[in-house]
Amino acid sequence: MTGICTGRVAAVTGAGRGLGRAHALALAAEGAAVVVNDLGVTADGAGASGGPAQQVVEEIRAHGGQAVAHTGDITTDDGARSLVTTALDTFGRLDALVNNAGFLRDRMLVNLAEEDWDAVMRVHLKGHFLPLKHAAAHWRAEAKAGRTPDARVINTSSGAGLLGSVGQGNYSAAKAGILGLTLVAAAELGRYGIQVNALAPAARTRMTEQTFADTMAAPTDGDFDAMAPENVSPLVVWLASADSAGVTGRVFEAEGGRITVMEGWRPGPTADKGARWTPSEAGETTRKLLTESEPARPVYGA
Ligand SMILES: NC(=O)c1ccc[n+]([C@@H]2O[C@H](COP(=O)([O-])OP(=O)(O)OC[C@H]3O[C@@H](n4cnc5c(N)ncnc54)[C@H](O)[C@@H]3O)[C@@H](O)[C@H]2O)c1
Repeated sequence: MTGICTGRVAAVTGAGRGLGRAHALALAAEGAAVVVNDLGVTADGAGASGGPAQQVVEEIRAHGGQAVAHTGDITTDDGARSLVTTALDTFGRLDALVNNAGFLRDRMLVNLAEEDWDAVMRVHLKGHFLPLKHAAAHWRAEAKAGRTPDARVINTSSGAGLLGSVGQGNYSAAKAGILGLTLVAAAELGRYGIQVNALAPAARTRMTEQTFADTMAAPTDGDFDAMAPENVSPLVVWLASADSAGVTGRVFEAEGGRITVMEGWRPGPTADKGARWTPSEAGETTRKLLTESEPARPVYGA
């Protein structure tokens, strides 16, 4: 198959279902050979199965594409390292990493168990860091050997990470952390030919089918299915391709037919006394600045 990713190799984590599956199929349709990673866990992260990853590999091959399954846990050093070596051993190179794997353990903060905090931080935040680290180490070695790559990393954040989401304190914190990680990675790795961007998608998958049951049903009349995960993938494919040269350290929302560049924290109204404030002065000044500032965006579910 030929397209904007012809000759490139992409690894997609959590690609056995939902958005990751759609990204893997779309990358393959544009010519990429794909490492389809998935641990095959339940919607809250339990168990393990090689079935989902293998099924997507077979779908890609049935369409004439190239793919290999990787069923390791990307939250472990071994799993993340072997994701990269699977690409190198099977296809001889790695050009793009799509960090996407994850699951939810939603609770209100006062009911959120330490274990559910740790599991969600681990799968999303550490599950982004470790594959990024091992892929970047490979690409840095390539650059130092005089073969500077056209490498791409696409991280998966969420509206919950951008604005916060009631009942998802663990998930919102992890997804906001991914935004910080993206900015640092883009700044550190640009010199090695590596671009790093993040995405906040929205789509109907097993993760969201209950949350958005009322608005997310697939149309039955052949109309545009705005909540299909496949709608998010074209932006991922472009960001993974060499065509996205020069785009790094950015965050995009993608849903249905809409792509939005997200504009992050920026200095708003400011005051400088040139000396230390008293607490009362600090309060008075802060209240005045707040009246001049943009109102905060509502938190999801508030
Ligand atoms: N669906 C949405 O509307 C939405 C919105 C915002 C963000 N996201 C994010 O998009 C990503 C994909 O979510 P989805 O909706 O497709 O969910 P999904 O449950 O359909 O797919 C996630 C996949 O990740 C895999 N996975 C989980 N832990 C893993 C691990 N340790 N190693 C390897 N694979 C693992 C699961 O087995 C599963 O197949 C997630 O990061 C999610 O937080 C989704």
